[in-house]
Amino acid sequence: MLIKVLGSAAGGGFPQWNCNCANCSGLRSGTLAAKARTQSSIIVSDGGEAWVLCNASPDIGQQIAHTPELNKKGALRGTNIGGIILTDSQIDHVTGLLSLREGCPHQVWCTPEVHADLSSGFPIFTMLSHWNGGLQHRPVTPLEPFVVDVCPDLAFTAIPILSNAPPYSPYRDRPLPGHNVALFIENRLSGRSLLYAPGLGEPDAVIMPWLRRADCLLIDGTVWQDDELLAAGVGKNTGRAMGHLALSESQGLIALLASLPATRKILIHINNTNPILDEHSPQRRFLTQQGIEVSEDGMVIDLQELTS
Ligand code: MLT
Ligand code: MN
Ligand code: ZN
Repeated sequence: MLIKVLGSAAGGGFPQWNCNCANCSGLRSGTLAAKARTQSSIIVSDGGEAWVLCNASPDIGQQIAHTPELNKKGALRGTNIGGIILTDSQIDHVTGLLSLREGCPHQVWCTPEVHADLSSGFPIFTMLSHWNGGLQHRPVTPLEPFVVDVCPDLAFTAIPILSNAPPYSPYRDRPLPGHNVALFIENRLSGRSLLYAPGLGEPDAVIMPWLRRADCLLIDGTVWQDDELLAAGVGKNTGRAMGHLALSESQGLIALLASLPATRKILIHINNTNPILDEHSPQRRFLTQQGIEVSEDGMVIDLQELTS
């Protein structure tokens, strides 16, 4: 299985267009050892020809421009994106669908809860029905494996996770299990597996066995500390309120990762306030010592190459 990170930042990207926090201004002025990052999205493939897009970020145009794999050579109009899966209905994970309208119809796998948000509060499914067949909903049932036709060697399983529904959703702060899922993706030939969870609020008994089973984790690295946005003076939300488990807490994500056997542990969906973006920070050094990687845009992960 091949995985490519299209966007490794959380909502807003890095630097965020209207932000002058230490990280964003340091990156702009060239004084910070860090790389710019676009918003949260990955592609996966069994053979490297057709790809499944997992989440569609507002930066998708720029991401596709830097991803020649997605260009369908020989077609006057076409794409190697052969299916789209959504883990939730957050703006940073779905807005890119609007930019893919010229390629409709698209097959979009998501839970009924995500489909409901995207047909009401943010009615992308409804709007795009006016573009050549629009978005064709392929309902996802949590814990039931499914296959995306263009990548028949991959089995996808959506695992309900505790996080939050988007601010615009009537289910904000009272999400149903289908509002947030992690994706467990297994190559059916090799047995190698990835768990992709860009928003993990709290590990519970449902997700734990999947976290233990995956060879590679691509997981929520949004904030270093729960009150990071407050401390940086840029917002009032805590990580917990947004549905993101902080890295550094005593029961935080670093502690969780230390207990897991995965061969590769990689953070994704990193907020622009997070000190781990600074490659020279003590927080980043600590991650390296713990064997935890920080994803960046364009990063390629080949699960075939994993040695466990
Ligand atoms: C999140 O991950 O919590 C959201 O994407 C935040 C947002 O919509 O800005
Ligand atoms: Mn997000
Ligand atoms: Zn910032």
